[in-house]
Amino acid sequence: MSRQRSSKRSEPDHYTLRAKKEGYPARSVYKLEELNGKFHIFSRNSRILDIGAAPGSWSLYCLRNTGPDSIIAAIDLKELTIKNDPRLFFIQGDFFEESNLNRLLEKGPYDAVISDAAPATTGNRTVDAGRSFSLAAGIISLSGKMLKAGGNLTIKIFQGGDEKELTGMLNELFEKTKILKPKACRSESFETYIVGLNFTGSANVRKSDGN
Ligand SMILES: C[S@@+](CC[C@H](N)C(=O)[O-])C[C@H]1O[C@@H](n2cnc3c(N)ncnc32)[C@H](O)[C@@H]1O
Repeated sequence: MSRQRSSKRSEPDHYTLRAKKEGYPARSVYKLEELNGKFHIFSRNSRILDIGAAPGSWSLYCLRNTGPDSIIAAIDLKELTIKNDPRLFFIQGDFFEESNLNRLLEKGPYDAVISDAAPATTGNRTVDAGRSFSLAAGIISLSGKMLKAGGNLTIKIFQGGDEKELTGMLNELFEKTKILKPKACRSESFETYIVGLNFTGSANVRKSDGN
């Protein structure tokens, strides 16, 4: 692959170079590293569900930072590019499909649900934020079925006006809700992450219609 890039914006930055050096397929790993460093999303011995996992940097980070008894269940529409591991259980498919949900439920309940899932973008900020909202709201609703009491949820959202509604959903389900835009997010990106800490399981879990 040529190292020559057509524009300065697409030149590999510090995080891209570091990811390559450390064997991660994507620079997004440093977003999870910062989030986990700040909020202790999972511990050495955790069962983790990674939604929107491809190419696999977050799953690989979890594998590298948990012990031999941990389990990482991962799902994505696309294939992972990381090496297989006995602790990794991967489904290629749609998170909202019932058969996939059932297989993931069998591996749970989870100490942590982490989602870097992103919809196909159009470049239209309103449309993209709307799609991201639907995806995030569906994942938050279903995390109630997936998490252990006391578990944590980390989820990517696009800033577009509806993030208050999403943080409101987390407030109902978790003892604490945090919001953080990790340093590794590109400056032009309008993504941010919300974190629900200590799942109380007290709210009514809404049924997702998959939209
Ligand atoms: C930014 S990438 C994730 C990067 C990943 N965290 C990593 O570090 O390698 C977002 C992913 O979300 C996936 N995705 C979006 N909607 C999904 C869905 N309904 N079910 C499963 N995966 C989904 C996309 O296929 C895409 O690979």
